[in-house]
Amino acid sequence: MDVVLVGLPGSGKSAVGRRLAQRHHVPFMDLDERIEARAGRRIPEIFEEEGEAAFRAHERAAIGELGEADASTAVSRVVATGGGAVVDPRNRWALYRGRMAVWLDGRPEVLAQRLRRSPNVRPLIVGRDPVAAVRDLAARRERFYAAAAVRINGVAEVHGVLGAVQLAVTQPRTSATKLLDAETKLGRYVLGEHVATDEIAATLRRLDARRAVIVSEPGAWAAAGAGIADGLATRGWSVEPVMLPQGEDAKRLSVIEDAARELARLRVERRDPMVAIGGGALGDAAGFLAATFLRGIPLIHVPTTLVAQVDSSIGGKTGVDLPEGKNLVGAFHQPAAVVIDVALLATLPERDRRAALGEAVKMAVLGDERLFALLEADGDAIARGETSVFERGTVAELVERAGWAKVEIVSGDEREQAPDGGRILLNLGHSLGHAVEAAGGYRDLLHGEAVAYGLRAACAIGEAVGVTPVGRSRRIGALLDALALATEPLPYALDTVLDHLAADKKHAAGRLRWVLPTESGVEIRDDVPEDVVARAAGGLLAAGSPA
Ligand SMILES: NC(=O)c1ccc[n+]([C@@H]2O[C@H](COP(=O)([O-])OP(=O)(O)OC[C@H]3O[C@@H](n4cnc5c(N)ncnc54)[C@H](O)[C@@H]3O)[C@@H](O)[C@H]2O)c1
Repeated sequence: MDVVLVGLPGSGKSAVGRRLAQRHHVPFMDLDERIEARAGRRIPEIFEEEGEAAFRAHERAAIGELGEADASTAVSRVVATGGGAVVDPRNRWALYRGRMAVWLDGRPEVLAQRLRRSPNVRPLIVGRDPVAAVRDLAARRERFYAAAAVRINGVAEVHGVLGAVQLAVTQPRTSATKLLDAETKLGRYVLGEHVATDEIAATLRRLDARRAVIVSEPGAWAAAGAGIADGLATRGWSVEPVMLPQGEDAKRLSVIEDAARELARLRVERRDPMVAIGGGALGDAAGFLAATFLRGIPLIHVPTTLVAQVDSSIGGKTGVDLPEGKNLVGAFHQPAAVVIDVALLATLPERDRRAALGEAVKMAVLGDERLFALLEADGDAIARGETSVFERGTVAELVERAGWAKVEIVSGDEREQAPDGGRILLNLGHSLGHAVEAAGGYRDLLHGEAVAYGLRAACAIGEAVGVTPVGRSRRIGALLDALALATEPLPYALDTVLDHLAADKKHAAGRLRWVLPTESGVEIRDDVPEDVVARAAGGLLAAGSPA
């Protein structure tokens, strides 16, 4: 087994790593030294001459050279990483999966003190107030370090640190790999592979739960819920499953009433958490139940579809449908935790995975160039559920990039009140997306498929009003083509689509705000002429554009 030491600069990774390797008579590898050897230069020179991006490329290559993880239980190698190595999701996948990641933690003040005495030049800290610089790095990186299997106070006396690592490596290993662990304004956000049961149990313990009340539906229960329930029972939890109907049928007030009565019969109290296991429909309904039962009980979201993992479980929107429209009754209710296990996505039907990529393209267009490139290179393989994209960490990176971007946007604007730049950004592709989804009676198109049509329309509108460069619009179109999203003209009448858009406009107090792609992000415009909108909508339809 490889032991991988991670942590901020000055936390003692190299010193502890060297001693640990000596103690076990195994090789020690210092990634920074490896990078310097590959590049034939010191790290500050690489930064100065080639920039941080080039350094990160060397770093990725050095991590790649670690090879396959060694499954033995004895320590076979010790690896010390550079402080920033874990920022890249794919590096974290390589460093944490199948290896034992140990976070050497320490207070920024102490680390800064150590750095002042260190002969090594740290490019991201040099020239700045060291305490402020280390604090800043700590805030930005804590969620990456916190996902390591073990956390140890690295600035304690070295024998103590070695003893603690020693104790950790003798603990039984599991197949779980945590990749991200963050305390956010929207609750705790945990992402990993095979982490669901352990992380639900840990969250229940934190919440002082007496039992596990699970709300799920037959599809998600068969694919994921039953296994998780068994795992919780094995860990000593008494499990109470409450089943809602599968799919959009869960989002009805009568279903909420029945389920609330079941919770009442189970004598669920205000401090009893609910674990919601399922996709977006289940999460919306269970979330609304949690928001309203006893005026609100704690909620743990365990999203099992790609839509739910990158979108619906994040942000606190819950709700049910009425015959008059979707999501008309609901509440904001932030979960205590969102536990995202990418291994649960393997059983999802291809159409659901592919449709969810419509939302992922939206997040990429909002300004994540790496996500854009990932979708261009591997989006179709992800949609098809190829084993290789799960094994290489591509799916995990997609879920992290798209989901975390939503965490950041919503954290700045929880109740959708920011005039610009807040939650409204998430509406990219949604105005006309909603309109075509509604025109199909919510039966023809999955939500993400409709968003893909909306994205094409946003590009057309953006080009017409001079916001979207033609090259950008073409690149977005080519990506949607490659993902086989929104490629067929829709069989609806233009008037029907525009009527649904007008209904949306009413909700927006008569003023539709269009989120339109720019070269590297988006711009919001509320002055788009109606004929431009009609032409863009017509461009999606078999009947064609208006004259
Ligand atoms: N609250 C929000 O912010 C938000 C955002 C986007 C979408 N939504 C809502 O999400 C819903 C759509 O989401 P969805 O597509 O996930 O809905 P869903 O919950 O109906 O799941 C889709 C299907 O997948 C099945 N399934 C679930 N997990 C599975 C697994 N691991 N393997 C195999 N099958 C599995 C389900 O049984 C269901 O049949 C809509 O109701 C939409 O309004 C909400």
